[in-house]
Amino acid sequence: MNKRVVIVGASHAGAQLASSLRQEGWQGQILMIGEEPFAPYQRPPLSKEYLRGEKNADELLIRPAEMYIRHGVELLPGRCVRSVDRTAKRVLMEDGKSFDYHKLALCTGARVRQLEVPGADLPGVHYLRTLADVDAIRTRLVPGCRVVIVGGGYIGLESAAALRKCGVEVSVLEVQSRLLARVTAPQVSAFYQRIHAEAGVVIHTGWSVVAIEGEDRVTGVVGADGRRLPADMVIVGIGVIPNVELASQCGLKVDNGIWVDEFASTDDSDIYAAGDCTNHPNRLLGRRVRLESVPNAMEQAKSAAASICGRQQCYDAYPWFWSDQYDLKLQIAGLSEGYDRVILRGDADAGRSFVAWYVCGDKLLAADCINRPKEFMVAKQLLAGALPVSVERLADESLDPKLILKI
Ligand code: NAI
Repeated sequence: MNKRVVIVGASHAGAQLASSLRQEGWQGQILMIGEEPFAPYQRPPLSKEYLRGEKNADELLIRPAEMYIRHGVELLPGRCVRSVDRTAKRVLMEDGKSFDYHKLALCTGARVRQLEVPGADLPGVHYLRTLADVDAIRTRLVPGCRVVIVGGGYIGLESAAALRKCGVEVSVLEVQSRLLARVTAPQVSAFYQRIHAEAGVVIHTGWSVVAIEGEDRVTGVVGADGRRLPADMVIVGIGVIPNVELASQCGLKVDNGIWVDEFASTDDSDIYAAGDCTNHPNRLLGRRVRLESVPNAMEQAKSAAASICGRQQCYDAYPWFWSDQYDLKLQIAGLSEGYDRVILRGDADAGRSFVAWYVCGDKLLAADCINRPKEFMVAKQLLAGALPVSVERLADESLDPKLILKI
C-alpha cells in the first residue's frame, strides 16, 4: 500500500488523526508535517504547569517520539507547507520539496491575534501559544518582576494564576467591562475577578491599551485615558485566528474556519480538516460552530480518520471545556449562547465552588461547574438527553446532584 495521507499540522488534531488512522486500519503511509520543531505536545499545560516550571517539555508530549516510528507515522517537524495543488494532489513545501497525497488532512489550528499598537514589537512583549513562547517568558521571569497581561480570557487568567505562584507581580488589562466575557455569565466573571483579586492580581476592566513603552525593552503600558502601568514584561492573550490560508489558497470553502461537514470532509472529498481551524455543523446545537478546544480537536480528528478509511462516523458531541486556575477547576459543558436565565447552585459571592446553569425555557444550554465534578456529569447527561430541567432542583443545594435528573 503506497497510498499516502498527508496531515498538515502536528498538534492535538494532527496527532489524534494519525493514531486514529492506524486504529481504523489505514495501511498506507502517513506523513505529518508540523511547523514547530517538536513532536506534537499538549498545549493546555503551557499556561499552567509548564509556565510554573513544574513540567518539562518531554512531559508535554502527546505520545513518545518512538510511538510514531512504531506506528509508521513519518513526522516532519519544523517544516512548512506553502500551498496545495488539488489537481496534482500534492502539497508544496516552503523549501521547494513536494509530497503527493491520496488524502489530505488540514489540522492547521489557530494563531494568536496580535496586539496592534505602537511598541508591541518591543523585546519583553510576549504571546503564549507555543512551547517556545513559554520558554521565552520563563527565561525572563524573576520573583518580584512586574508582568502586565493584556486580555482577561483563558490565557490571561490561567497565566495570572501561574505567575502569582512564581512570586511575580501581575496586572490584567481587559478591554471589556468584565473578565471572560466571551464565554461566561456576569456572575462567573465577578467570581473570577474576586478570586484573582484575593490572590493579589490587580485587574483593570474596560482598559484599552494604546501603546507599549520602552527604549530597547518594554517598561510600561499606556491606556486610552493616558494612564501608565509600569511593566518588566507584557504577555498578550487577546484571542486567536484560525489558520485557513492553505484552504483558501487552494479554493476550499472558508467562512470563519475551513468549512467541513459532520464527517470532517471539506468540499473536496479528498481533503479533510479537524480542530480549531474548522467550522462544522453540530446537530445537537442546531447550527454551525467553530470551537477552540482540545476535546473538539480530538473528537473531530477521529471522525476525519474514520472518513478517510471509508467509514462514516458523525462528529456529534456537545462541546466541553475546562480551565484550571489556583485550586479551581472550571468545567464547562455546552455553549451558553442564547440563554434566558442563569441559575446559581452554591455561593458565587463567598465560596470557591458553585455551578452556573444556563437555561432557555426548560432546557439546559450549558453549565459552568467550578469545583463541582458531580454537577458537571449531570450537566452532560441533561444536555445529551435534551432533558427538561426544573429550576428549583438546579438551584437546590440540599438535593443530591444525581436527583437533578429526576423530574
Ligand atoms: P480568549 O478569546 O479566551 O480571551 C481573549 C480576551 O482578551 C477576551 O476577554 C477579550 O475581551 C480580551 N481582549 C481582546 N482584545 C483586547 C485588547 N486589545 N486589550 C485587552 N483585552 C482584549 O482568548 P485567549 O485567552 O487569548 O486564549 C486563546 C485561545 O486559547 C482560545 O481559543 C482559548 O479558548 C484557548 N485556551 C483555552 C484554555 C482552556 O480551555 N482552559 C486555556 C487557554 C487557552
